[in-house]
Amino acid sequence: MKLLVDGADVDEIAYAYTYVGVEGVTTNPSILARVGQDPGKVLLRIRDLIGHDELHVQVIGKTAQDMVEDALKIVDLLGMETYVKIPCVKEGYRAMKDLSKRGIKVTGTAVYMPMQGWLAAKAGAKYVAPYINRIDNMGYDGIKVCKEIEDMLRMDDANCGVLAASFKNSQQVLELAKYGIATCTASTDVIFNMMNNAAVDAAVDVFTQDWHKLTGKDRF
Ligand code: E4P
Repeated sequence: MKLLVDGADVDEIAYAYTYVGVEGVTTNPSILARVGQDPGKVLLRIRDLIGHDELHVQVIGKTAQDMVEDALKIVDLLGMETYVKIPCVKEGYRAMKDLSKRGIKVTGTAVYMPMQGWLAAKAGAKYVAPYINRIDNMGYDGIKVCKEIEDMLRMDDANCGVLAASFKNSQQVLELAKYGIATCTASTDVIFNMMNNAAVDAAVDVFTQDWHKLTGKDRF
């Protein structure tokens, strides 16, 4: 499973790239708003940092035509390899069909139910992005919905993978890794928490103390 950073803080993305085997970045308008800087400049800095790794950027327009125009601006700015995120709504499916015919890679986003994932795959999306935490908050089971979409795409032999998004903890990510989900995107908080384990830290401390008792040194 690929792991992407769900964020737009360039320093945090660089930190994640230093410590973890992440392979790309996802953004949305709210994530960019949290950074509070010119979104075009921020996205260019991210592209510069991650090179040819996956970068997912969302359109703003509400009609299919406006979404297509936004998408063309996005790939013009950030390269054809960029995934354009299109919300899985009626106008979005129309935009997805148009964009995939033009060879633009589409991620169907804001997926809350399997039907949206299926429709996006039919419209040519390369990824569909179920929002795990938001589905949970609606009183449904985000992991279950994600697995159902994965099963459906596999059975259909679709040229489309799941990009699971909206996580509140690292265990949810691991659960989907075990299921063979193609890609997960998680905030740097969730990613960094994967590395924190007090029991492991304590075990490593004992190794260091025992070595010190034996040699008087803290290094080999
Ligand atoms: C992907 O980029 C999604 O937009 C994102 O994971 C949504 O996360 P949220 O539910 O925490 O806002």
